[in-house]
Amino acid sequence: MKKVIAYTRVSKSVREQLKKKYEVTYFENYEYINDPEFLKALKEASGIIGLELKVTEELLNYAPNLEIVSNVSVGYDNLDINAMTKRNIMATNTPGVLTNTVADAVFGIMLATARRIPELNTFVKNGNWKEYLQLEHFGTDVHNKTIGIIGMGSIGEAIAKRSHFGFDMNVLYHNRSRKEHVEKVYNATYCSLNELLEQSDFVCLMVPSTPETERMIGENEFKRMKQSAIFINGSRGKNVDEKALYQALINNEILAAGLDVFEKEPVNPDNPLLKLDNVIALPHIGAATRENELAMSMLAAKNLEMGLLGKCPPNIINREAYYDDHN
Ligand code: DGY
Repeated sequence: MKKVIAYTRVSKSVREQLKKKYEVTYFENYEYINDPEFLKALKEASGIIGLELKVTEELLNYAPNLEIVSNVSVGYDNLDINAMTKRNIMATNTPGVLTNTVADAVFGIMLATARRIPELNTFVKNGNWKEYLQLEHFGTDVHNKTIGIIGMGSIGEAIAKRSHFGFDMNVLYHNRSRKEHVEKVYNATYCSLNELLEQSDFVCLMVPSTPETERMIGENEFKRMKQSAIFINGSRGKNVDEKALYQALINNEILAAGLDVFEKEPVNPDNPLLKLDNVIALPHIGAATRENELAMSMLAAKNLEMGLLGKCPPNIINREAYYDDHN
């Protein structure tokens, strides 16, 4: 029986299914390197399935039998793809299944930030609602505003759909390539990053984390935004210069920010962004619904099983690793 490490967010029912075919060891934690149990399991594992395990050269050195790492996420910035490919270790992810779940979350964060929902929830629960709500607590409208979506992948599209059909918003987007159907169906306008930053009421960052996107939103970009702009990050923390964001918020260069992701996760409780009232901070909830956990785990398990059978998994990221090894 092949050995598999299941890591963090793999739903229990899927783990049980996997146990019928593999010897599965489950780890719940973020940190592996100081855990002798983990290192022992790694030495023998043919497959790893899970969320956000940092697969580095160092980790791979402990894993001589590894054939596949099946990410339970669409993002795969946790994987050193080059290092894996060199060793013919397949990498897979779970695109598609989470699209609407993440788009819902981004919209929720946008509404919460614009209407100051978490802040006013605390206000009521702390017993501060003693008179008619004053202007100082008012939020800002979302409908009829301009949203600028940076990154028009499938999640970006699902956000454009909600923006156009649900909230009558004017949709701008910036992407590596133009998406004609998005322009046609959601009346979206393609523009340069600078145009998008200057014209949007809501700037919504949805790009993957790559060396090219690292800190792509920093001091200059915040300076270009409207003073009334709300910045939403539903992608990866590394895509934003957090210090520049903090400065932009305290200097009133932008109005507020809704952040589902941080440069370091779990976020350091001392991160100064957490002290600001005009920041909504969430613990990377984009894909985190019960239904979606199951759907992503099932797809990741399918990828894992195909890989361990020597077949090409449906969501392979580094096809070269498969072809080199099997053809
Ligand atoms: C993804 O799938 O990349 C999500 O961000 C994980 O929560």
